[in-house]
Amino acid sequence: MAKTVLEVKDLKMYYFTSRGVVRAVDNVSFELKKGEVLGLAGESGCGKSSLGFTLMGMPTPPGKIVGGSVKIDGREIVGLPEDVLRREIRWQKISMIFQGAMNALNPVYTIGYQMIEPLIYHRGMEKEEALDRAMRYLELVGLSPEIVYRYPHELSGGMKQRVVIATALILEPDVVIADEPTTALDVVVQAQIINLMKKLKKELGLSMIFITHDLSILAEISDRVAIMYAGKIIEIGDSQKIYYEPAHPYTQKLLAAIPRLHEDVDKLEFIPGQPPNLIKPPSGCRFHPRCPYAMQVCREQEPELKEIDKDHHAACWLL
Ligand SMILES: Nc1ncnc2c1ncn2[C@@H]1O[C@H](COP(=O)(O)OP(=O)(O)O)[C@@H](O)[C@H]1O
Ligand code: SF4
Ligand SMILES: [Mg+2]
Repeated sequence: MAKTVLEVKDLKMYYFTSRGVVRAVDNVSFELKKGEVLGLAGESGCGKSSLGFTLMGMPTPPGKIVGGSVKIDGREIVGLPEDVLRREIRWQKISMIFQGAMNALNPVYTIGYQMIEPLIYHRGMEKEEALDRAMRYLELVGLSPEIVYRYPHELSGGMKQRVVIATALILEPDVVIADEPTTALDVVVQAQIINLMKKLKKELGLSMIFITHDLSILAEISDRVAIMYAGKIIEIGDSQKIYYEPAHPYTQKLLAAIPRLHEDVDKLEFIPGQPPNLIKPPSGCRFHPRCPYAMQVCREQEPELKEIDKDHHAACWLL
């Protein structure tokens, strides 16, 4: 049995805005094993990125972790002072490929300059040694090492995304969070990046959380899948089970909304309504206003995640 590299329990991260408290991550629990890819999916606004930032110990202001635990390789990181997080945890133990990071590369510095910064800061490397390592990581992600001397505008979107991936891996973190790493890319480049991630998983034994709103991508890469709705994980388990025997009505709807090439487009479903406002989420099951099976109990009481099969949990009163 592979060891657990990430253990999240009852995690809560709320944004304290002037309009009210946004409960973006609300009682989230899951585990990630060494070498495993956990796909995290759900409509836009359900809290996927918020969860990613929280796991990095850096919720975006005005967000604050208000409860729960995050253990990386057995070490609790909730409550650690910022300087310890920066020195010992972030990028070294857990790193993140931010959504849109490839467009946030600094245009005035070379790729090499941007890649060696963490090596100099965290590992105290000399510039030469750091550049050497940056070149090795560029090769690992399928780029020419010479790219260290190039500027971001000289690279294509796919190349920039590879640079961002290499940078997230350069300190050899235990866990990598990839937030919509293919969303801004065209379909062909998307497939190349997915293949790269699969290769890295195999060669480096990477443990990864792969975030996307696109469930069709997750089938390719995930060992396990977690579905998030309105700040909560509502179904989690072995990816085959999630795909072929989805238990939660929300997961079923999400899957029915994936356009598959061989299927009749007329049969495509969509989910009526929108994800709720997380300042005042619906009572009981947060999905009840959109659920075709909603019953009285759904409006009144929140269903908990229950084991319905081996490595398959879902939170729904129907089960
Ligand atoms: N900095 C912030 N301040 C206040 N609310 C935020 C902030 N960032 C995200 N939110 C809110 O938190 C919820 C979850 O957002 P997000 O984590 O970005 O979802 P996803 O990544 O699944 O699209 C949304 O309701 C969003 O409006
Ligand atoms: S608990 Fe009720 S409202 Fe929620 S998904 Fe299940 S049936 Fe639908
Ligand atoms: Mg997001």
